[in-house]
Amino acid sequence: MKKILTPYTKGNLTLKNHLVMAPMTRSRAIGNLPNDLIAEYYGQRSGAGLIITEGVSPLPEGLGYTNIPGIFSAAQTEGWKKTAAAVHSGNGKIFMQLMHTGRIGHNLNLPAGSTLVGASSLKATGQIYTHASGVQDYSGPVALTTEGVKKVIEGYGTAAKNAVEAGFDGVELHAANGYLPEQFLNPVVNNRTDEFGGNIINRAKFILSVVEKIAVEIGKDKVGIRLSPFSTFNDLPAYDAEEVYETYAYLSKQLNALGIAYIHIGINAAITQKTLDVIRENFNGTIILCNGLTPETAEIALTKGFADLVAFGKSYLANPDLDKRIEKDAPLNQPDMKTLYSGSKEGFTDYPTLENE
Ligand SMILES: Cc1cc2nc3c(=O)[nH]c(=O)nc-3n(C[C@H](O)[C@H](O)[C@H](O)COP(=O)(O)O)c2cc1C
Repeated sequence: MKKILTPYTKGNLTLKNHLVMAPMTRSRAIGNLPNDLIAEYYGQRSGAGLIITEGVSPLPEGLGYTNIPGIFSAAQTEGWKKTAAAVHSGNGKIFMQLMHTGRIGHNLNLPAGSTLVGASSLKATGQIYTHASGVQDYSGPVALTTEGVKKVIEGYGTAAKNAVEAGFDGVELHAANGYLPEQFLNPVVNNRTDEFGGNIINRAKFILSVVEKIAVEIGKDKVGIRLSPFSTFNDLPAYDAEEVYETYAYLSKQLNALGIAYIHIGINAAITQKTLDVIRENFNGTIILCNGLTPETAEIALTKGFADLVAFGKSYLANPDLDKRIEKDAPLNQPDMKTLYSGSKEGFTDYPTLENE
């Protein structure tokens, strides 16, 4: 029996297997609302022990991309109930990823009355699609005031409560891939002079305050976090390797003290082994590894490496029955890159299972 397919328990996290569906933005949420098609998509993938949803914004100004969903309104909370129910009826568990895009976005993508915000006013270099005007440079963000930061932290707490009200088993704070929490962590993007800027402790304060707030609202065992040390995705400037190591050593120690369920690491070529090691040494909860795994390398990460759980992105979007395919050593469908964000059911809910191939 492959370890990946056996049940998993640590603390209060009990899953039917070690297989996780990684969070993936799919841009099917017209009007930033979850819908029946989205519920069907996740329901099809409920063979995973744990599904982590696409990034869902806790606040209107965190909706930097077109057609991504939110979890701040009553209609969104209501809409998500179908997704949670669809996954539970397949005996899977589902955490909602809370993603505030911060400076990675465009004002044209935001609901009326919202403005792009960031840890600072430093604009990201790069471009983004807008419905109104096609591809545009990122908007320049307005730097959050200290009071503004505190409101954002509150917003995450309310969003987490909404997710649990909608039936989700927990939430994952997206603190990876260059979005708002990682913008706070980065010493170049974060040029603040208040309590949320400066040394490592101050730069980590935003993330730790959000985690603490969410834990108070929904319980620490329902909280996970995604980190991507050394990633420069979304125009995050690289910084001194020793300082990155110190940053994640500190974060993992504090996250352990907060007693959350898991740390989810998006690995990349630049991560130093000692950074991975210090996270594992400091954190007693579950560690999920993701990025570039195959069923074979995932099994090795579980049996010989330090991962407790393994997550698949593209292989999961293209293979709704990934658990069955792993069980049978069956070939995997390849993802169609043209329909990743196409907005329709093509390339979303129509990937074949082994049964209907
Ligand atoms: C279409 C697509 C959308 C993604 N959106 C998100 C997202 O919303 N949040 C996130 O943390 N990662 C996101 N990712 C990254 C994936 O979670 C994962 O880290 C990446 O696909 C690498 O894993 P893989 O090699 O198994 O595909 C996305 C990836 C893809 C392909």
